[in-house]
Amino acid sequence: MQRTLVIFKPDCVHRRLVGQILSRFEAKGLAVVGLKLIQVDRALAEKHYAEHAGKPFFEGLIGFITSAPVVVGVLEGNEAITVVRTLLGATNGVAAAPGTIRGDYSSSKQNNLVHGSDSPESAEREIAMWFKAGEVASFTPAG
Ligand code: CMP
Repeated sequence: MQRTLVIFKPDCVHRRLVGQILSRFEAKGLAVVGLKLIQVDRALAEKHYAEHAGKPFFEGLIGFITSAPVVVGVLEGNEAITVVRTLLGATNGVAAAPGTIRGDYSSSKQNNLVHGSDSPESAEREIAMWFKAGEVASFTPAG
């Protein structure tokens, strides 16, 4: 079993796509073990996207992710990190394959609906950054 962090970004919340996309993760077999809606502040946004600091799109990305509430979750399941990223598709919605979440709903590099951790190390770091210990279930939902 593996855990991963997902962020339903402001475009996803604004377009009322959170439920539909969460359903796709659940249908694939992933369990929700943490979930909340929050307004991200600049400090958290900069920490989360630290690896992109200095890139041309960094300021726009920080402005975007702090512009309106996001829904952030922890999903658990077999190979959860790879499963989420495969369902999401390529970062750039224009290039993402039809049938993937971004391929079906995004045509933007920045406004690509959902973030998913890219490695076990990132998942551990990101879950600790976004959730307090008591906010993530310590059990795996049955079934
Ligand atoms: P995410 O998976 O959250 O990881 C980094 C984010 O940066 C990415 O999704 C996009 O939202 C954004 N991003 C990556 N590349 C670009 C780009 N070339 N232009 C604008 N935004 C980008």
